[in-house]
Amino acid sequence: MPAFYDVISRRRDVRAEFTGEPIDGATLRRILTAAHAAPSVGLSQPWDFIIVEDPAVRKEFREHVLHEREVFREQLSDEEAKRFAGIKIEGILDASVGVVVTYDADRGAPAVLGRHAIADAGTYSVCLAIQNLWLAATAEGIGVGWVSFYREEKLRELVGLPERIRPIAWLCVGPVTHLETVPDLERHRWRDRMPLDTVVHSDRYGRPAELAD
Ligand SMILES: Cc1cc2nc3c(=O)[nH]c(=O)nc-3n(C[C@H](O)[C@H](O)[C@H](O)COP(=O)(O)O)c2cc1C
Repeated sequence: MPAFYDVISRRRDVRAEFTGEPIDGATLRRILTAAHAAPSVGLSQPWDFIIVEDPAVRKEFREHVLHEREVFREQLSDEEAKRFAGIKIEGILDASVGVVVTYDADRGAPAVLGRHAIADAGTYSVCLAIQNLWLAATAEGIGVGWVSFYREEKLRELVGLPERIRPIAWLCVGPVTHLETVPDLERHRWRDRMPLDTVVHSDRYGRPAELAD
């Protein structure tokens, strides 16, 4: 049990620490096996994983991401833009591979048990697969960085996704020099993590819960 909590606290979103060394094939299989073991609504397992090695695809994706970085920067105040300038938001070419994780709403449809009232339960399932992947990678000493500065149409076109398949994440994956102990956004004073007690409520939203220390 303590080892599991240790992995949870060591997990980091990685941008700058990739070594670029190849990722061992058996390790990648174990990490993807962990992702594929995630819970999913109606056991639909609505995910696919596209391992992107092609340098041309990765380069084109990175150019698109840098463009979207600019789009975001233009929305910021001068003070925010100054802080944002020092923050790296991707390691697409530095990582060993990209892993695009997708959502297929047709998997197991139409009778997906548990999704009739909440369509989002399908994408929730994919996010759980991503979290399993992330934690397994951490346990293996492999870094993962989630990139979401992109337009879905662009990524769909780049990796040849059929219209019905939705890209959920581009993950930068590979060996790292180390994992930072504090999230990048906190180190760059973008935002601080909130104390647990501020987000736990008792019986009704807004009524603080008293948790044991
Ligand atoms: C859905 C999602 C999208 C994210 N997109 C990006 C991104 O585009 N670029 C980036 O640098 N980090 C991205 N992150 C990482 C977060 O910034 C990071 O998880 C957060 O700052 C906490 O840091 P930690 O993961 O190291 O604990 C994303 C994380 C999630 C869960």
